[in-house]
Amino acid sequence: MTVSFRKEPNPNPASKEQLEEIFANPGFGNFFSDHMVTIDWKGTYEDGGEWKNARVHAYGPLTLDPAAAVFHYGQEIFEGIKAYRHSDGSVWTFRIEENAKRLNRSAERLALPQLPEETFIEAVKELVSIDEHWVPSGEGEAYYIRPFMIATEAYLGVRPSHEVSFMVIGSPVGNYFGTPKPVDIWLSENYARAGVGGTGAAKCGGNYAASMIAQLEGEKHGCQQVIFKDPNREEAIEELGGMNVFFVYGKENKIVTPELTGTILEGVTRKSILQLAEDRGMSVEERAITLTQWREGVATGDITEVFACGTAAVIQPIGKLKSAEFEIPNAAGDGENGEVTMAIRDELVGIQTGAVEDRHGWLTKL
Ligand code: COI
Repeated sequence: MTVSFRKEPNPNPASKEQLEEIFANPGFGNFFSDHMVTIDWKGTYEDGGEWKNARVHAYGPLTLDPAAAVFHYGQEIFEGIKAYRHSDGSVWTFRIEENAKRLNRSAERLALPQLPEETFIEAVKELVSIDEHWVPSGEGEAYYIRPFMIATEAYLGVRPSHEVSFMVIGSPVGNYFGTPKPVDIWLSENYARAGVGGTGAAKCGGNYAASMIAQLEGEKHGCQQVIFKDPNREEAIEELGGMNVFFVYGKENKIVTPELTGTILEGVTRKSILQLAEDRGMSVEERAITLTQWREGVATGDITEVFACGTAAVIQPIGKLKSAEFEIPNAAGDGENGEVTMAIRDELVGIQTGAVEDRHGWLTKL
């Protein structure tokens, strides 16, 4: 499908001074660029419907009927992508086609329409091209792109919406966790994130909403993040509230991450790390890893580092794992970032920012 985007430029874009102020301390997800993209869809899930009315317009509040299905039944999915400014001033995204594909896998699970991959990529390009000056260039900074799809039909019956909108917004961001240093994480024993046959593998708002009460519980215990177990496999570790998890077995030169069981999000960063670890000659295992294996692996010194990953955080060293009953110390040593963690992080960020050769062809110039 070739879509042409109607251009309705923002009559009140941010001033140079406002932009400078934002760039001085962007944080994560606090500020949004002048424009957004919207494409509307009408039809039924079965007939495929039709995408139309593609436009690039001023960023601003939406007008939606209070009965819109997204407000009631959570029929919604999203993606996260970053655009990076390279030292020559050009702007690049990382593995954008993976996000286009994953959006459609999520759409299928949430009975939302398929969006042609080229339209997804085109929409992102349109936004980045009109708001290019919003892409920061500081260390650890990027333009975080948030495509999402919502059910807009005003109808309270429980069935897939016959009206949907796909939108893309963007935000200049710094590192999700600031300067990389280990974050302590809380083991969620009272709450699960996903179940067999549920939406765990889809990137839908409901999964993140379900993680928040557990996140608050963790914060009460001094943790910044929460990790979930797979409720169907007793002690198997699943993922964090919004990130996948990796274990480094230093002596064996091995990296392990929970396999994709259908309850785990297929992270693009996760997939990239598996490739980079293989490239470094590490052995790579996607398999169940239990809490006992984690505890014993750290105690024996077999597990030497644990880290989390996602588009927003890239790679984040994990410190202690805390629960109501026990604590597992930081595998890399108290307060330490793991060496392998940081080496893979540097390589990945290097590729994304153009400092390291893109040998897998992961970058797309915008
Ligand atoms: C991302 O990493 O892009 C996410 O969607 C996770 C969220 C915690 C920001």
